[in-house]
Amino acid sequence: MAKQIIKAPRGTGDLLGEETLRWQQLEQQLREASALFGFSEIRTPTFEQLDLFVRSVGDTTDVVQKEMYEVTAKNSRERYALKPEGTAGVIRSVIEQGALKGLLPQKFYYLTPCFRHERPQAGRLREFHQYGVEVFGTHSPVADVEVISFVHLLFVQLGLRGISLSMNSIGCPVCRTAYYQRLRAFYADKQEHLCGLCQNRLEKNPLRLLDCKTPSCAEMATDAPLLLQDLCGDCETHFTQVQRYLQAANIEFTINPHIVRGLDYYTKTVFEFIASDLGAQSAVCGGGRYDGLVEQLGGDPLPGIGFAIGLERLLLIMAAQQIASKPSAPCGLFVATCGEEACECSVAIVDAVRHAGISAEMDLMGRTLKAQLKYANKIGALFALVLGEQELATQTAQLKCMATGEQHPISLTAPFTALLEALQSSSHETQGVS
Ligand code: HAM
Repeated sequence: MAKQIIKAPRGTGDLLGEETLRWQQLEQQLREASALFGFSEIRTPTFEQLDLFVRSVGDTTDVVQKEMYEVTAKNSRERYALKPEGTAGVIRSVIEQGALKGLLPQKFYYLTPCFRHERPQAGRLREFHQYGVEVFGTHSPVADVEVISFVHLLFVQLGLRGISLSMNSIGCPVCRTAYYQRLRAFYADKQEHLCGLCQNRLEKNPLRLLDCKTPSCAEMATDAPLLLQDLCGDCETHFTQVQRYLQAANIEFTINPHIVRGLDYYTKTVFEFIASDLGAQSAVCGGGRYDGLVEQLGGDPLPGIGFAIGLERLLLIMAAQQIASKPSAPCGLFVATCGEEACECSVAIVDAVRHAGISAEMDLMGRTLKAQLKYANKIGALFALVLGEQELATQTAQLKCMATGEQHPISLTAPFTALLEALQSSSHETQGVS
């Protein structure tokens, strides 16, 4: 009978081997950059009350209406959802933990899995990972520029090419009142050609019409009036200052008045970083201001701004541009053994070497001596030590450099000081430490 293999769910991925290493290195770089910009890490649950996303991301968005994974425990009526994005959970948490009561601004970063039930394709997954930051408590346009320049610097540090920044301002509730009237007037004689969802959105949340993926709605939206032309004085000044500061920071951008973003909470500045190497899923980073959201979710009236980068998309660009990750640290020592007594001694040696901070391996497969050395070669071990009856009797073994084949005798007397010194000095040499 054929074996039945259970596969991973569509749109999810496994990470192992070199791939895991690439992720670890990227995550490390992101953590270092976060520290450079003064962000501290926040971790929030993978699932939250469903209502959190309905109230923040918005009940007329595709994310909430079509893409959310709802979860309910078997014996419970409480409705939860796997987080489709990181911002809402962070805000829920900082309100609940009272983190915005003290010194402002508060700056957080996160690395988190997110879940959206979309049709999987390259760069679009059902489980994906975001690195994001959120800054709370400042209305200043300097904060907008700080988060944008953070993304810019990150991409420069990673050596990415072909990434462009597009921005827009989608104003505040004040400017939107006048704009919504113009938008509804524009759609008045087109209503019957809109998809069912958009007919509903026209009354409740007309801005969403500009973001609909249904081809007929998307086509109509290209001629719709633009909010950028209806900004109130405050929003206009803010957006002008953001542009001035970006120019001062030498960061290139284009204004795209069609960016509205797929989530409802944004106000004023919104932006996207678009990669030329990503095909249809070209947005590698999206973000913006959400000045009303903290209050809307029950907190004090504090403004916020942030962004999130899709890590799978970022790694796709790095692969396409052949941006190599650092090779993994090689195994420092392989101890090859022959016989039970040698095996016992190798356990002690490997343990001492690892305690000294050098990676070490020994035979776990019961291989012959020849096969063990072949294996040591395959895993790229830098040195090998062969232990047999004679070595145990003389308490001396040959330390073999795998690259050159050179050998020199080394004492096996515990606590293996001579061996540790030899390995340490050679690892200093290979790292160029004098
Ligand atoms: P978003 O634009 O919905 O914004 O997502 C941010 C990034 O996540 C996208 O630019 C993309 O790289 C990645 N992404 C989104 N969906 C998928 C998917 N299905 N598969 C792979 N990658 C995906 C937000 O989520 C906001 N919370 C960002 C933010 C933070 N705004 C303010 N603060």
